Amino acid sequence: MSQTALINLDGKSFELPTFEGTENEKAIDIAKLRDLSGFVTYDPGYKNTGATKSAITYLDGEEGILRYRGYSIEELADQSTFIEVAYLLIHGELPTVAELANFEKQIQSYTVVNEELLAIANAFPASTHPMCVLAAVVGAMSAFHSTDEAGDDEENILCLLATLPVMATWHYKKSLGEAVNQVDKSLDYCSSFLQMMFGKKGDAYLADPIVAKALNKLLILHADHEQNCSTSTVRLVGSSHANLFASISAGINALWGPLHGGANQEVIEMLEAIKADGGDTAKYVTMAKDKNSGFRLMGFGHRVYKNFDPRAKIIKVAADDVLKALGVNDPVLSIAQHLEDAALHDDYFVARKLYPNVDFYSGIIYRALGIPTNMFTVMFAIGRLPGWIAQWKELRTNKEPIGRPRQIYTGATLRSFVAISER
Ligand code: SDX
Repeated sequence: MSQTALINLDGKSFELPTFEGTENEKAIDIAKLRDLSGFVTYDPGYKNTGATKSAITYLDGEEGILRYRGYSIEELADQSTFIEVAYLLIHGELPTVAELANFEKQIQSYTVVNEELLAIANAFPASTHPMCVLAAVVGAMSAFHSTDEAGDDEENILCLLATLPVMATWHYKKSLGEAVNQVDKSLDYCSSFLQMMFGKKGDAYLADPIVAKALNKLLILHADHEQNCSTSTVRLVGSSHANLFASISAGINALWGPLHGGANQEVIEMLEAIKADGGDTAKYVTMAKDKNSGFRLMGFGHRVYKNFDPRAKIIKVAADDVLKALGVNDPVLSIAQHLEDAALHDDYFVARKLYPNVDFYSGIIYRALGIPTNMFTVMFAIGRLPGWIAQWKELRTNKEPIGRPRQIYTGATLRSFVAISER
């Protein structure tokens, strides 16, 4: 029998229903609060507000638990592939051998380069940030695919999974003055991306299996993360029945922010600055504690994880392994390790439960894989795409209402217009 929440306001009492999810998370259903009491809730940043019920990803910030459709991130990162995880997130179950083979074949059938989209990407100056180009070309896909409500979203989903990594390489190749590469359909998803990034037209290029394996693990770790800023954006835009491409383009723009996915680029730039400044990590820990410094320890802290980000733990180990396996000696790795150690022994960070998040070590691996720094957040978007798609699909399948939060008005009360001659 679920309990009710008793609210006492203005001398009246109201009861609101509550409910529990499958992992015993509890919620007060406030749908009738305003009708009953005239009050709305107030929760900037939605820190305590559940926007939806979802069966896709479960995370427990206190225990450092992250599961996709019930499977632990540790098992998936260790035993699965990114495309298998994409299938799991979007369809809800792990695929059979035949289902996975068919899914991969369908995705590969959509990897053809759309010359008109390539022309749109090439219209941007070489100095443009790759996230700007990616958001633009994904939004432009609405012009080349059927997006009416009765449309075949399955086809658009496959097309997006196929073409996002292809389009992600275009601006990089332009910045090098190189022609874009066609997709090598004989390669797996990650090896094919690496070939398009680093292969030169006409030259045979095969990605180092260590690099492809590391990329596969990183993409799995980024694939979904319940109602984070960019996923909430995708759901909000999708709730107006905007098409999939428009919704994902909005998510790419939200992810670009330095407080969100843009942090992985900021972390490397921060570590580089510390290295250039003599590697004095204690100085930067002190700066991060000084509110007037305007400096934050990028890659630290999280809205939900108040113990440790399980992805950061996996990536930290992987960073060590990949750099050793590739024979890369990157001085910023030891700066990152010293910075983490300094912060984790400092009361300011401990009191605020600030630990390394997914972005703290990921850039060190991307760099070792040869990915340019300004493409780190693009890599985050490639990883997060199946999660965005799964969440958008869930919202539409569940016929959720258009999102439209309330506010508390604090502006001027009624006043009469004054003619300009009188002012
Ligand atoms: C991602 O939500 C998700 O799931 C996101 C994500 C995903 O997979 O989608 O996990 C990916 O976005 C990871 C976060 C990447 N961002 C960064 O690394 C940027 C640096 N971190 C922060 O700016 C911050 O920690 C946030 C944005 C991540 C969380 O911000 P909150 O929850 O709004 O917390 P807050 O800003 O209110 O901070 C609480 C306190 C404040 O101090 P007080 O006012 O209490 O004295 O902690 C301090 C903050 O000043 N603080 C930091 C800090 N982060 C928080 N102080 C120094 N350095 C930091 N990094």
